[in-house]
Amino acid sequence: MLVDGKQMRPIWLDRDTRVVKVIDQRRLPHELIVEDLYTVDDVIRAIKDMYVRGAPLIGVTGAFGVYVAARNAPQDRQKDDYLTSECDRLKAARPTAVNLFWGVDRVYNKIRNIENPAERIDAARTEAEDIAELEAENCRRIGENGVSIIEDISRKKGGGTVNVLTHCNAGWLACIEYGTATAPIYEAFEKDIDLHVWVDETRPLNQGSRLTAWELGKHGVKHTVITDNAGGHLMQHGMVDLVIVGTDRTTYTGDVANKIGTYLKALAARDNGIPFYVALPSSTFDWDLRDGIAEIPIEERDPDEVRYVDGLEGGAVKRVLVPPADSPAANYAFDVTPARLVNGFITERGVCEASEEAILKLFPEKSKQV
Ligand code: MRU
Repeated sequence: MLVDGKQMRPIWLDRDTRVVKVIDQRRLPHELIVEDLYTVDDVIRAIKDMYVRGAPLIGVTGAFGVYVAARNAPQDRQKDDYLTSECDRLKAARPTAVNLFWGVDRVYNKIRNIENPAERIDAARTEAEDIAELEAENCRRIGENGVSIIEDISRKKGGGTVNVLTHCNAGWLACIEYGTATAPIYEAFEKDIDLHVWVDETRPLNQGSRLTAWELGKHGVKHTVITDNAGGHLMQHGMVDLVIVGTDRTTYTGDVANKIGTYLKALAARDNGIPFYVALPSSTFDWDLRDGIAEIPIEERDPDEVRYVDGLEGGAVKRVLVPPADSPAANYAFDVTPARLVNGFITERGVCEASEEAILKLFPEKSKQV
C-alpha cells in the first residue's frame, strides 16, 4: 500500500541480499523503522515482541522464518531434526493466531524431503514469497466480496455517510496488502462511497489509535479514534451502521477469536441491531476446533503492557506509568465471540453465515477434515 507515495508492505525480502525486512510496528505512527531479520531468533523476537503482528502477517513471517532456518542450517546438522526443532520454536512464538502454524507448516512440508541444501533454501524462499502473494490476493478478494455490504447500507441511507466501527488493526499492516476488515473499506473508498470509520483505540497496545488511524489517514479515509468503551454509546445513538473486525483464529463452527474487547462490541452490536461482520482469509480458519471458548488458546502477555503507555512528547516517544506502581495488572490479549453474535464472514471465496454448514459450503474440501 502507499505510504507518502511509496509502495510498502509490512514484510519483504531484500532483492539483492535476500534478507527478511519488516516494519517495526511498535514504533508507528511516530517513527517508521525497518528491521532486518537474520536469524530464527530475530524472527521469533519480531513475532513475540510484536514488531510484526496481526494473524495473516504472523503467518507470513513464520513462513519466512522457515526460509531463514533453512538458510542458516549448520552443515553438520543438515539431516537431523534441526529444521523441525526450529519450526517448533517458531510456532511457539505466539499462541492464538492459527496462521503462524499454517505458514510454518506449509513451508516445512514443501522442503522437508529436499536433500540438496541449496535447493531446499530456494524452495523455502519461493514458498514463503508465494504465501505472501497468496495472502495479498486473498485480502484483495475480501475487499471485492465485502464491499457490497457497505454499498447496500449506503444505498439505504440515500448516499449518506456509512459509519463503520472497527477494533484493533486488521489493516494492511496486519496482512500484506489491503487488510481484512479494512479491505472492504478501502474498496468502498475507491468506489467513492461516502464512509467514515470509528477506530477503537484498542488498549493496551493501541493497535487502533496507532496503526489503523495511521493507515486510514495515509490513505485519506475519514476516521475518528474513540476509546474502547465508546462503541456501545455510539451504537445506541445511531452513529454506527456496521462493525467489521478481523480475527486471529475462527473455528469451523464460526466462533471468532480476536483482540480483547471484540466480544463486547459484538454484544453491543447485537443489542442495537447493527450488523457485525468478521473478515478473514481461509488461513485463519482452524479446521480442527469446534468450540472456540473452550479450545482456542488465549495469549496472556506481560502486565507491563497494561501498566505503561507510550506516546509522543516534545518530538520523542516516551513511556509513562498509569496505575499505582504497586497495583497488579493482567493482560488477556484476545477474547472469543460466539458464532451466534456474528452476522457473517467475509472471505476470499465470498460472504457466508457464521455456521458450520455455511462455512463448509464455502470450503467443501475441508469437510473431510472436520
Ligand atoms: O495482538 P495483535 O496485534 O497481533 O492482534 C491482532 C488482531 O487481533 C487482529 O484483529 C487480527 O489479527 C486480525 S488481522 C487481519
